[in-house]
Amino acid sequence: MTDKHPAAATALRTDYCGELGLEDAGRTVSVCGWVHSRREHGSELAFVDLRDRTGLVQCVVSNAHDLRSEYVLRITGTVRARLEGTENPKLATGAIEVGDCEVEILAAAEPPPFPIDGRTSVDETTRLRHRYVDLRNERMQHNLRVRARVNSAIRGAMEAQGFLEIETPMLIASTPEGARDFVVPSRLSPGEFYALPQSPQLFKQLCMVGGIDRYFQIARCLRDEDLRADRQFEFMQLDAEASFVSQDDILHFISEAVAAAAEAVTGARPAEIPRITWLEAMERYGSDKPDIRFGMELVELTEVFAGTEFNAFKAPCVKAICLPGGAELTRNKLDALTDTAKRWGAKGLVWMKVEANGALASPVAKFLSADEQAGILAATAADEGDLILIVADERRTVWRILGLLRNELGRPPVTEGGLSFLWVVDFPLFEALGDDGKPIPAHHPFTMPHADDVALLESGNPDDLLACRSQAYDLTLNGWELGSGSVRIHRPDIQRQIFSLLGISDEEAERKFGFLLTAFRFGAPPHAGFAFGIDRLVAILAGEENIREVIAFPKTQSGADPLTNAPTPIDAAHLDELGLRVLPKAKD
Ligand code: AMO
Ligand code: AMP
Repeated sequence: MTDKHPAAATALRTDYCGELGLEDAGRTVSVCGWVHSRREHGSELAFVDLRDRTGLVQCVVSNAHDLRSEYVLRITGTVRARLEGTENPKLATGAIEVGDCEVEILAAAEPPPFPIDGRTSVDETTRLRHRYVDLRNERMQHNLRVRARVNSAIRGAMEAQGFLEIETPMLIASTPEGARDFVVPSRLSPGEFYALPQSPQLFKQLCMVGGIDRYFQIARCLRDEDLRADRQFEFMQLDAEASFVSQDDILHFISEAVAAAAEAVTGARPAEIPRITWLEAMERYGSDKPDIRFGMELVELTEVFAGTEFNAFKAPCVKAICLPGGAELTRNKLDALTDTAKRWGAKGLVWMKVEANGALASPVAKFLSADEQAGILAATAADEGDLILIVADERRTVWRILGLLRNELGRPPVTEGGLSFLWVVDFPLFEALGDDGKPIPAHHPFTMPHADDVALLESGNPDDLLACRSQAYDLTLNGWELGSGSVRIHRPDIQRQIFSLLGISDEEAERKFGFLLTAFRFGAPPHAGFAFGIDRLVAILAGEENIREVIAFPKTQSGADPLTNAPTPIDAAHLDELGLRVLPKAKD
């Protein structure tokens, strides 16, 4: 037992492999772990690299013939400096080795299904089927350490701000987050179902009515939606709610939590998080989750083309982006970009290469007046060698297409460009009108309208409704939506007005959220909250493009778990007990 690594010592071990160094020379140590590699050294001796969660150490072992990859060993020996010239500077323990080893085989192992070297590319299903082997890779070990550090920092930051950790139930009635529910059949009430929570939304609001004042939870949420790089069926949120607060208070609380998480991983506290309005985000970046690690902002050209003769630009909105150095793109690449833009719904895409003296090389240059060409150059501030891309259409379409093109052409990989958090505030209350002409809530139906826009709600005119802002806000990081929140409606009269605009009848409101509306009649404080995705934050902090890489046991893209084979059928007796009958699969 040494006082250098107190946490390492157990009944079987004195030290972790990866923590031994020259200062331990002369000590007799016991290390435990997996055989990472074995290299013969003459007929009698072998170098065995033993691996545990801290790294590798080289052990000089005699009679190592029985030791295979991934055998679990306990090795006792003496730490000594390696002979001059045999040190390995790439290994943290490369200055020493463990000699005079006595080896105890704690468990034999079949050959691993794939090498644990961090280099071999292994398909996803194989990795997940043997996730316990995959977890031994340094990449997964690192990512799970990052995750644990993030959870701990978030918990610390929320507690330091007076938030109380409260667990809300998993078997509930449906929550209104807009995804499909996972449901659980009830045995005691056959034919009836619980929903698994898409978020703790309604319970955290009830906590506010219950006088909890500041609630938080590191909450598991379940949503039955199509999986993508940033989406799993199950994911974790930092979920928070507070009473007697303004939007600014919530932004401050959450900024503290993400700053603590980032600092815990990178060692540096991020700068204060800037804020922009949703409208500004759309006008400048064409996205409500702008990646501000790079520029290429959208440039307004509508005025430049106000009287244009060029038919394609006779549109309510004309905007451009400029790709520095993009003039070198080949014609093939530009045609491909145009096709991509059309697939996204653009009517077309105009490209222009800036040549010497500001000449514009473009198939459509001949249709544009000298003033228009000068106007483009002035507005975009483009230089020789740059590429300008222009889209004309309805304003929202222009935002969307140029926003996608900007990301496609400019976005750095996740491991580059640092951390750019951004608050996007003043989201619209409604994202669009549905087929029935009713507005669709941009966040959820409990979001408070912006105080200055209440009159727009009363007019009921569709343009006014879509222009109505809300007290809803998002946090973005490097172009990912990290989280969302809002000031909630706590007044029954405003809630009734919103339900009526959304076409939610009194009966439907009563059936879906009756318990919340009833609770509000018993004294609801003004309250607001937020939730951000911990998997997404951890992925970016760990430099991963897919949240699967930061989840110990994730699902595949198709929602399966190759390790446990879930989902699986259940037997007939179990179905009977639940009062369920499974229909034959529909033929394609
Ligand atoms: P929202 O639905 O925006 O808000 O979710 C908040 C954050 O949770 C993360 N997230 C996901 N992460 C991984 N996989 C998924 N399928 C998934 N879905 C969501 C995202 C997202 O930004 N109750 C509100 C918050 C509130 O108003 O307080 C809510 O859940 O990072
Ligand atoms: P057209 O008049 O459709 O032959 O288009 C002439 C050029 O303008 C082509 O390069 C199109 O890709 C482009 N174009 C057409 N419509 C638009 C639009 N709405 N926005 C930007 N470019 C367009």
